[in-house]
Amino acid sequence: MSSFKPEMALDWVSDANETTIIRLVSGEDTTTIEKFINVDQGASLDNNEDTDVDIIEFHPAFTYPIFGELEKIFGKKIDDLETTSIVSLKADKVEEPMRSVLSEELIENPSSFSMQVAKDTRNFKPHGKKIHEYKLPQEQEAEDATFEIYENDFTDESFRKFHKRMQTFVLFYIEGGQFIDDTDEKWTVYTLYKKLNFGGAHIYSLVGFCTMYNYYHWPDKKRARISQFLILPPYQQHGHGSKLYFYIHNSVIANPDIVDLTVEDPNESFDDMRDKNDIKLLISTGDAEKIDRPLSYQETMKILSKYKFSKRQRTRVAELCLLRNLNKS
Ligand code: ACO
Repeated sequence: MSSFKPEMALDWVSDANETTIIRLVSGEDTTTIEKFINVDQGASLDNNEDTDVDIIEFHPAFTYPIFGELEKIFGKKIDDLETTSIVSLKADKVEEPMRSVLSEELIENPSSFSMQVAKDTRNFKPHGKKIHEYKLPQEQEAEDATFEIYENDFTDESFRKFHKRMQTFVLFYIEGGQFIDDTDEKWTVYTLYKKLNFGGAHIYSLVGFCTMYNYYHWPDKKRARISQFLILPPYQQHGHGSKLYFYIHNSVIANPDIVDLTVEDPNESFDDMRDKNDIKLLISTGDAEKIDRPLSYQETMKILSKYKFSKRQRTRVAELCLLRNLNKS
């Protein structure tokens, strides 16, 4: 008779979000890079102090598109069991589902990979056209980095390849996020990088990105729709999302071919960031003061029209202005 009890199975169930580790690695010391490729989570990551290797480690927020809705992985610790009955239970596949969401051009050999990291650290330059750069206030940015925003589309084959690697982050961090059709030239992709000076060279690291679709708007205009918006975890809550949104919004306002900026399925944190930035913009232009009772709905919408907000966002911003002015009086 088997001594296996169903609750024992829990010993081999791991949380897929916790066990999946993402590492951003840069540096030129290939021996150290290779050493850190396979270390366990969090292990000895501080030991790279004497080298130029920089490693940032974090976890996905979602892995259900890869490991299923429960985000659990059933393990392989069959040897630990006294009974043999568990052998009939199969461990979940890990590598296969993970590969299905990664670029097909994976570098599998650890030394080739570390050589590529070293090469990219020195030579990588962002694709696309630089549209903006900014710095964070000194007290928040010890490294004296510059942040740069680039605009890209899929007519650039080298960017399309790069995007194939980058897009996995969408599944990891945007609930309901899916890969977009990279053969469709109506996408605009904004990328945000941190740029550091290093021995006369510039080192770029990806901070976040946003994909935006340009729909046709009758008769000869476009309607911009933000589809995916993501700041990588180590860079969240530092104001980067606000900067990226602000410059995308501004480029839409400045583009006479685009009638408005809409957002596909915004979540609560995106809405929050957008509301705050939109109201800040209206305060800076003085329009927030003007949207006050007894201004008519038509007059309010007229003031807001130049900001090219979507219908829903126009209403939210008008309400925020009214509330703000109510609180002031
Ligand atoms: N120092 C400390 N905090 C700051 C600073 C700063 N310098 N600047 C801004 N903040 C605060 C803001 O005040 C805000 O806090 P509050 O909400 O308490 O006021 C908070 O940080 C967020 O503002 P940002 O830093 O500008 O936003 P962030 O860079 O974190 O980006 C985003 C927000 C995009 C939601 C990011 O967290 C993210 O990518 N999350 C995961 C993916 C996601 O949810 N994406 C949106 C999905 S919806 C869609 O794709 C359409």
